[in-house]
Amino acid sequence: MNKHWTLDDIPWDRFDRSLADDGTIKVIKAAALTEYNARHYTTYLRNIFHADAAFQQIALVWAEEEVQHGLALGRWSELADPGYDFEQAFKKFTTGYVIPVDKDKSIRGCLQSELLARCLVETGTSSMYSAIADHTDEPVLKLLCRKIAADEFRHYKLFYTYMQKVPEPEKASLLARVKVAVGRLREVDDDELAFAFHCANEKDQPYDLQRCNNAYSRQAFSYYGRYHIERAVGMIFKAVGLKPHSWMSSLASTYAEKVMQGRVAA
Ligand SMILES: [Fe+2]
Ligand SMILES: [Fe+2]
Repeated sequence: MNKHWTLDDIPWDRFDRSLADDGTIKVIKAAALTEYNARHYTTYLRNIFHADAAFQQIALVWAEEEVQHGLALGRWSELADPGYDFEQAFKKFTTGYVIPVDKDKSIRGCLQSELLARCLVETGTSSMYSAIADHTDEPVLKLLCRKIAADEFRHYKLFYTYMQKVPEPEKASLLARVKVAVGRLREVDDDELAFAFHCANEKDQPYDLQRCNNAYSRQAFSYYGRYHIERAVGMIFKAVGLKPHSWMSSLASTYAEKVMQGRVAA
């Protein structure tokens, strides 16, 4: 496989603990767990694309890049918190967070909707790693986040390109695409990130979705500036099939900014 970079390309010895803040370490630990779990989702993706051998191969390569993000961020987490055991936290995460993968049809209704949902996830990851890279002064994390964000933008393009190629019966109407996008955005508040935050950062407390979701989003949204939000909203509009730069996208950016600022202040 032709990876764009490997863990050996990262100058780990330049890590500077004094430049890593505790809130960022918590978010990175949680992100590492979800990234590292990509192979699991790929099983589902390969099952629903059972008739498309080319895409199945693409999904395998994609998953290995996500797994590498998990490994890199996990390694950074262990540098930042020497008592932290990334593999052990990952075990806890995958034991408690199980998604059914034995499907032969997309849970989003059709393949185009599934790819749209993927584009939204890549929008979320590319914007978050870009925002963290702009925020942090810790040199290893800054470099890692830049490299990972570049991968996530490329993943978005990959899924977006494939969205346009699905056969006619697997296409979704504009209304259906809007519904999928809204539904996927709402899923940000589901268990995945909140439970990852719990497994990565909490030892003595039982899991609580609301509390962990608040703690995660308060920190994760704090990195976003207007620029990151506008770019992400533009990517979402484009994936849905709407004009990425319009009065509607500008309105949506303002709304998203308000929601995110509200979460940070909560
Ligand atoms: Fe990733
Ligand atoms: Fe990605």
